[in-house]
Amino acid sequence: MTSTNAIDLLKKDHRDHVAMFEEFTKLKHPQERVKLINTIVTELAVHATAEEKHLYPVMADDPKIIEAIEEHHALKLIMAEVADMKGDEPNIEGKVKVLGEMVEHHIKEEEQDLFPKLERIQANLIEIGKKIADEKDRLKAGMGTVGNQKADQLGGAPRPA
Ligand SMILES: [Fe+2]
Ligand SMILES: [Fe+2]
Repeated sequence: MTSTNAIDLLKKDHRDHVAMFEEFTKLKHPQERVKLINTIVTELAVHATAEEKHLYPVMADDPKIIEAIEEHHALKLIMAEVADMKGDEPNIEGKVKVLGEMVEHHIKEEEQDLFPKLERIQANLIEIGKKIADEKDRLKAGMGTVGNQKADQLGGAPRPA
């Protein structure tokens, strides 16, 4: 298996997340919306859990990490609301858009502040990348069909421990 640098892996996930929110704006059919929402929420939850377990602890006392954990917390609250939607609510486009904007803000902070710091402290990015990739596989395997779970079943606890 080829080794994966943690930053490359997470940046690819980020691009995928942004693309999914963009895709959502094109959907009008409630069933299609709900299906994509399930995928979005699943992918975000798996990504966030893997970061919290294997990336954030490397710089646990950095104020930017404390802020990032709070952002994950806020994201999960909205993810849980979005995951409960039926697809035809009058506010669904607005709510998903707000979630997408929060995700983009969080991505920017990770890529501009956190990832360069990881490089500066010479963290073992290959080792962390492997742990993150394995964690994502493990979480997804435990969920059966990806996209059929709610945020609160996906590590979307109100507050990360
Ligand atoms: Fe994150
Ligand atoms: Fe991230």
